[in-house]
Amino acid sequence: EKLTVCICGGGNGAHAMAGLAAAHAQTESRVLTLFQDEAERWTKTMEKNDFIILQNLPDGSVREIKAKPSMVTKDASKAVPGANIIIFCVPAFAHQQYFNAILPYVEPDTAIIGLPGQPGFEFQCFDVLKEKARRCAILSYESLPWACRILEFGKKILGAKDSLVGSKITGKSNLKLDPAKTLQSMLGEHPVLKMANNYIEPYLMTKAIGLDEFGAACLSGVSDEVVATAKAISEQKPELNQSHVQHLLEWYRQDYRETVADPTSLLTAMRTNAAYNGLVHPMKDAGNGKWVPDFNYRYTSEDIPYGLVVTKGLAELAGVPTPYTDKVLTWCQEKLGKEYIVGSELKGKDLKESRAPQAYGYKSLDDLVALL
Ligand code: NAI
Repeated sequence: EKLTVCICGGGNGAHAMAGLAAAHAQTESRVLTLFQDEAERWTKTMEKNDFIILQNLPDGSVREIKAKPSMVTKDASKAVPGANIIIFCVPAFAHQQYFNAILPYVEPDTAIIGLPGQPGFEFQCFDVLKEKARRCAILSYESLPWACRILEFGKKILGAKDSLVGSKITGKSNLKLDPAKTLQSMLGEHPVLKMANNYIEPYLMTKAIGLDEFGAACLSGVSDEVVATAKAISEQKPELNQSHVQHLLEWYRQDYRETVADPTSLLTAMRTNAAYNGLVHPMKDAGNGKWVPDFNYRYTSEDIPYGLVVTKGLAELAGVPTPYTDKVLTWCQEKLGKEYIVGSELKGKDLKESRAPQAYGYKSLDDLVALL
């Protein structure tokens, strides 16, 4: 049976997903990109050129996949109707405008997939799509399936991750297809898609706490608080079991076992992780010939409002004190020129811009259970 996939976004991830969906048997791949003239530029490039994905395979060879999406448009009325699966492949700060754009055209029994969703994806989805969201399946994955970059608008290179954890809210939907299985068949063998216990669990598994200039002690302290939050939620609400949440150090020891030379402590694991070679702190030109840290880069501008503020919100609902998180948040929000937290409470004036449960009026763990 024919499958129609609508990919939201126009960057690295959206390019990769659009190509893989187009290459999938009996699948129409459509792209909805709202940003500037991206749709027009992408469409023009495809008129004259092939659309090629270069996929790095584990054995060192490169696989070339040629397949064009059927349309690239900024018009949701063209891209969304009839789509069985809508995949968000765009940084989290842009999610709101895509939810708004698809709202009039989403049909019941559609799968809406955040790839990545990032913490709070479901809150924002229910906030915008309201009752429509209950008739859909909402899936959210912890990251993009690949490290990928656009080489030219229309060509890119991919290295797939090993595995990827996601979650699913089925609601009152009754889909003809299994969205996770379908996504897996579009992605191929890797990454292996896994299911979390529930949609909150990946929030507490997020690596959006990786601000290494604060030092391993601070980082480890934040991670301890996230684990404590997971434990408190699991105890109070068995429906929201968080058994997959682990300390950052355990995650390094497992997921980076091939590349971490010294897994003794969080500090040594991070310092000796070869996967980080070549990754440097984002800097910007201060205008006087000097370079200064760019604190508006997505490690902060994205991972704070759609990461740490959300986990802080969960800790608050679970009644877990978070001195390290509060310290880190206080420092980061000042760099961002925002106010999410005041002292140890989430009541800053910019809280509404975050995806903390409190920003959507959820006041207890019961409110989170109600979304299941
Ligand atoms: P990207 O950096 O390629 O996204 C840029 C795209 O976002 C633009 O092409 C445009 O479509 C949209 N956009 C940018 N500014 C906008 C604005 N002001 N308003 C509306 N839309 C705007 O993102 P990429 O690389 O596709 O990543 C998507 C998500 O996956 C991000 O959250 C990223 O942190 C995450 N991720 C990316 C990885 C990668 O290797 N590219 C790896 C792991 C995670």
